[in-house]
Amino acid sequence: MSLIEDLEQLEVRARERIASAATQDKLEEARVALLGRKGELTGLMRMMGKIAPEERPQVGRRANEVRAAVESLLGERIDEMRREAQKHRLAAEAIDVTLPGVRPLIGHQHLISQIIEEIEDVFCGIGYTVESGPQVETSYNNFTALNAPMDHPSRSARDTFYVVDNAPGTVDHPEAHAHGESDLLLRTQTSGVQIRTMLSQRPPIYMVAPGRVFRPDTADASHLPQFNQVEGLVVDHGITFGDLKGTLDHFVRAMFGEDRRTRYRPHFFPFTEPSCEIDVSCGVCHGEGCSFCKHSGWIEILGAGMVDPNVLVNCGIDPEEYSGFAFGAGVERIAALRYDLPDLRALMTGDMRFLAQF
Ligand code: DAH
Repeated sequence: MSLIEDLEQLEVRARERIASAATQDKLEEARVALLGRKGELTGLMRMMGKIAPEERPQVGRRANEVRAAVESLLGERIDEMRREAQKHRLAAEAIDVTLPGVRPLIGHQHLISQIIEEIEDVFCGIGYTVESGPQVETSYNNFTALNAPMDHPSRSARDTFYVVDNAPGTVDHPEAHAHGESDLLLRTQTSGVQIRTMLSQRPPIYMVAPGRVFRPDTADASHLPQFNQVEGLVVDHGITFGDLKGTLDHFVRAMFGEDRRTRYRPHFFPFTEPSCEIDVSCGVCHGEGCSFCKHSGWIEILGAGMVDPNVLVNCGIDPEEYSGFAFGAGVERIAALRYDLPDLRALMTGDMRFLAQF
C-alpha cells in the first residue's frame, strides 16, 4: 500500500474518530493520537525516507493537506462542543421573566413608635422641643429632685429596678449627687427628663420627652414591666393652670378627635402642686357609660399639674419669677384606647399578624 493511501485512510479514520468524540477529553485524546509527536501522522511522515525521492513532494503535499484537514475538523468539533455546553447552561439557568416575583416583606414602624411620633408632632406644632434622657437614671433625678420624700413607697425595691443600690437615702442629696454619688436605677418614669432639661436649659422651656420606663410588675392585660411614657414640661413667666388645661385639651382632641370632652380630677404627685388626673370622654359610649369605660363614661389618660416650687428650686429656677406645668402619659395606654386593644402584651410580642394591622 502506498503512503498516499495510508494518508487517505488516516483522514477517513480521523473524521470518524473526531465526529464520535463525546467529550473534550476524548477529543484531546484523538488529537494526540492523530497529530501528536508519537501520533499516526508523524509515524507516516517518518516513512518518507523510504520512498522514491520523486514521489516525496506529492506525498509531502498530501500529508500537509491531511494535517490541515484534521486540524480544522478538530477545531470545528471543539467549537460545536462549546456551543452545546453553552446551550445547556442557558437552558439550565433560564428564568421566566413573566413569573410573578417574590415580594420582599417591607416592615413599618411599630404602633408605639407611630404614636410617639404623632404626639411629638402635636407638640412640635405648638413650639415644643423633643428632649431625651437615659434609661439608667440616678435616683436623684428620678425621685429626689422631683420632690419625692426618702420614704416614698415608689422608691422601694419592690417598685423600682435598682442597678446600683448604695442603701437608699444615705447618699441621695444634691451635694452627693453633684459628686456623682447616687443610686442607679432603671427609670420608673420619664419625669427625670424634666430635671435634666431644667439643669441644662434656662426658661422658657417647652418640651416633651418620650421614652421607655421600667417597673417590677408582672405583665398582664393592663400592665407591662416596661412601657413608654411621654413627659411634658413648660416653664415660663406667668404660666397658669389655664395654660395647662388649654394645652392638654388641645392634645387630647388632636389624639382622640375633636368631639372628645375632658375632665380634670384632683390627684397627688410629689412633683406637682396642685396635681390632677385627666380623663377623656369614652369613645365607645360618648359618656353614656359602657363596659369599656367601666360605666363611668370617662377614661383616664394623663397625669399633670403645676410644677412644685421645690422642683424649680432644685433646678436653680426662681419660683417667684417662673411657674410651669408638667404632664405624663402612657403611650401603650393611648394605643389601647385608640385601637380598643384588649391586652397590652400584644404590643411586646413582635407577632406580625397583630402588628401589621397598624
Ligand atoms: N410620672 C407620672 C407617672 O409615672 C406621670 C406624671 C404625672 C408626669 C404628672 C408628670 C405629671 O409630669 O405632672 O405616673
